[in-house]
Amino acid sequence: MLKRILGVVAVAGLIMGASCSKKSDKVLIGHYGSLTGPEATFGQSTSNGIKLALKELNAAGGINGKLVELKEYDTKGESKEAGTSVTRLITSDEVIAVLGEVASSLSLAGGRVAQQYGVPMITPSSTNPSVTALGPMISRVCFIDPFQGYVGAKFAYETKKARNICVLYDQTAAYSKGLKDDFKSAFIGMGGTVPVDVAYSKGDPDFSAQLTAIRAANPDMIYVPGYYNDVGNIAVQARRLGITCPLLGGDGWDSSELAKIGKDAIVGSFYSNHYSPDQPEAAVRVFIKKYQDEYRGETPDGLAALGYDAANLLFDAMRRAKSYSGNELSAAINSTKDFAGVTGMITMDADRNAQKSAVMVEMKKDEKGDIRPVYAATIAPGEQK
Ligand code: PHE
Repeated sequence: MLKRILGVVAVAGLIMGASCSKKSDKVLIGHYGSLTGPEATFGQSTSNGIKLALKELNAAGGINGKLVELKEYDTKGESKEAGTSVTRLITSDEVIAVLGEVASSLSLAGGRVAQQYGVPMITPSSTNPSVTALGPMISRVCFIDPFQGYVGAKFAYETKKARNICVLYDQTAAYSKGLKDDFKSAFIGMGGTVPVDVAYSKGDPDFSAQLTAIRAANPDMIYVPGYYNDVGNIAVQARRLGITCPLLGGDGWDSSELAKIGKDAIVGSFYSNHYSPDQPEAAVRVFIKKYQDEYRGETPDGLAALGYDAANLLFDAMRRAKSYSGNELSAAINSTKDFAGVTGMITMDADRNAQKSAVMVEMKKDEKGDIRPVYAATIAPGEQK
């Protein structure tokens, strides 16, 4: 009996010893994202981008002789899950840094936890300004919505000569509420008018009350700063009600699902984004080739590109950091200058945001009948007031 107990203790000791030594030659980072749920492609694409960056890093020997490992949790697109995912990553997995989320409301929930524990978090794609305002642990590799709203307004007013634009936004999402306000103030500042500004709630099945009010105003365009599932349904219902004007939106439209849900109803509409697979730049071409080799020929969306950039920027900061303590690692992240990403040159500003160009894309149908976003314009920061 005693022998058996001793044997069990010895085996347990061996296992513990093995896992301890395993821990010391690997560094763990975390990702939390919507791998399932209504924004599932956001998390999946981001995860694909991060894993591609990680694979390349480890194939080249890791960082300072150590391989980097990823622990990932599914938020299902829910704020509560975002908070518990980050808590788990930090307190039980003990990651040195966190990547995520996509949706601003979820990055706010997760970011509060990361800031509280003093662990750096980089959101690849949350654009609401309040996310990085949570504190010095929170940074992003994308532009923010005051710029994105201006980009949509400028494209509509100057390129499309739109003067009357109605707005339909998701009152449950920090992203949608903020971007709606940013678009409106930019468009009105340019001389445009917004006769109707109405709300929906994520997942609503029926938008006919809002769309009927919008139809009565006979707008040149409808600005819908929402996520792809709702946007696809809104497009279908708008056409059914006889509304023919283009819809206009932001990065939240970026999903291969948009065309599947919206079909012909979404053709001829436009949105702003962080990147377009049509861009001729060498960095974009190389990334697309590597991504397609890794993921069965799939074309990466903006989230995949931003996930890849966020991971590589973190690795770059890890190489430069004096240690992986929260303070020293965040200092390295926040001093990033001229980091050449797929989505453009990334320099962290004093508020831990990146100043980058945006692209406008148009949903078009090709000869084969496939509907996809096609590059329309690039709009640079700087000129914005
Ligand atoms: N910017 C969106 C947000 O803050 C998220 C998003 C980014 C969605 C890029 C799609 C593409 O909520």
